Amino acid sequence: MELESSTAPSLDEEELDQLMAVADKAKLKAYSPYSNYRVGAALLASSGDTYGGCNVENSSYGLTICAERTALFKAASNGERNFKAIVVTSDHSEEFIYPCGACRQVLSEFGNMDVYMMQPSGRIRRTTLEALIPFSFSKKILDDAEKQRLEEWE
Ligand code: THU
Repeated sequence: MELESSTAPSLDEEELDQLMAVADKAKLKAYSPYSNYRVGAALLASSGDTYGGCNVENSSYGLTICAERTALFKAASNGERNFKAIVVTSDHSEEFIYPCGACRQVLSEFGNMDVYMMQPSGRIRRTTLEALIPFSFSKKILDDAEKQRLEEWE
């Protein structure tokens, strides 16, 4: 495994293997007739449950949703709020796929997690969400602003 993070991994080998298999399987369901670029993602929630997701494209191109957000919304709508890791994979055999900016922001809503980028061969690289999106916009910023607004009215 290649590392881009000095933190200890949140998953053991078995958990990682399982999550990689979920991401691989999710990729097979990709709906990508416009880009022909299949992406699979798999999230491991603190509950122990895993959620797979694929990209779902649209004839109105901008309405396409990435695999990472599909997985996140599936998990969140199942009540999950804490996550240990996400695995992302595509068919590209020579490049690692990193979550796009929008997905980084959406994933960061629920805090930090390990992010694993996987090639079809199973070659894997690990980093963290915090490393991918430092200074993300967060609920804390809105809470602090609201607190300040209320104080000013006192
Ligand atoms: N895509 C993802 O699903 N995840 C990413 O991290 C980057 C891009 C999808 C969106 C679109 O269906 C296709 O890849 C090409 O951009």
